[in-house]
Amino acid sequence: MQEIKFIENTHLKEKPKDQSKLGFGKIFTDYMFTMEYNSKEGWHNAQVRPYENLSFDPATTFIHYGQAFFEGMKAYNAVDGVRLFRPMDNFARATRSAERLAMPALDEDLAMEGLKLLLKVEKDWIPTAPGTSLYIRPTMVATDVFLGVHASDSYLFFIILSPVGAYYAAGLQPVKIYVEDEYVRAARGGIGFTKAAANYAASIYAGELAEKKGYSQVLWLDAVERKYIEEVGAMNMFFVIDGAIVTPPLRGSILPGITRDSVIKLGRKMGYDVQERLISIDEVMETARNGHMSEAFGSGTAAVISPVGAFCLEKEEVQVGDGGIGPISQKLYDTLTGIQYGRIPDEMGWSVKLDF
Ligand code: PLP
Ligand code: COI
Repeated sequence: MQEIKFIENTHLKEKPKDQSKLGFGKIFTDYMFTMEYNSKEGWHNAQVRPYENLSFDPATTFIHYGQAFFEGMKAYNAVDGVRLFRPMDNFARATRSAERLAMPALDEDLAMEGLKLLLKVEKDWIPTAPGTSLYIRPTMVATDVFLGVHASDSYLFFIILSPVGAYYAAGLQPVKIYVEDEYVRAARGGIGFTKAAANYAASIYAGELAEKKGYSQVLWLDAVERKYIEEVGAMNMFFVIDGAIVTPPLRGSILPGITRDSVIKLGRKMGYDVQERLISIDEVMETARNGHMSEAFGSGTAAVISPVGAFCLEKEEVQVGDGGIGPISQKLYDTLTGIQYGRIPDEMGWSVKLDF
């Protein structure tokens, strides 16, 4: 494997003093990992270097046509050292995003080595307060300077780090979600299954409208029938209906969440009936109204397990269960975070302990 160059940062920042006020994605560490690609040299020039502004020609492809995607994972200050959760699954998903966006496959092993080196240098930035972690944001952008709509030949891949608390201001308190029945996020055949920047661009307007109405995020419906549940802005959705844990299937328009996959596997191991099937918005509203739905929650790296206390469709708001955190959501949260922070044995082989 090629060598990763280290460039020292002589202007280190002050680390956040109050870890209860970290929020999400507002503070960045002293270093970043970068590497470049072109078809002649492949991935090259891998560096751990000072975090700083990047400079791009105004005609750089990704700015105009959005040939860009990102990933999201976390480093945890675990009971026995620093741990990552299924990091190679994130890099494998990065390669799937890249392929769909006509970008080069990531050198996943080099990206992992770069991440490890970056974390070794930045380990003191990993916050220690309960529920905090160091959020990891790998990103790839197309860097040709060209206004033709065409795949770029050159790319930049970088990883930045941000100490974070809970994604939602409410923490583990249930969030209220607005069911979006006018705008759509992604259609099958499109790029919904990738972490393309464009998917988030498509979602922001509806998110703003929902926020103005007092809701934390939007629940998307399928783009064709406007009937079936897809996912929420930054998390996959689960519903507990008549005791079964139900989640929408992967049909190409939603992100195959790594937390989603973990919840499915943990739920089955705990003995629950976990179903990947189509769920209509009518079923959600009806079972929430008549009490057959006892819990609903979202899953994601940033969101972890986020209980949903209510859904609003048009003008009707329905509460889920008693509006609080349900026992299955709590159990999954405790098990998942237990594995991530090394508090409970990881029988799945998901948690990766770093050797520093
Ligand atoms: N869905 C969307 C749209 C997301 O942005 C995320 C966050 O990454 C997820 C789902 C959850 O995915 P994961 O569990 O891999 O973080
Ligand atoms: C993550 O959970 O890592 C995400 O990417 C969500 C992000 C859009 C805030």
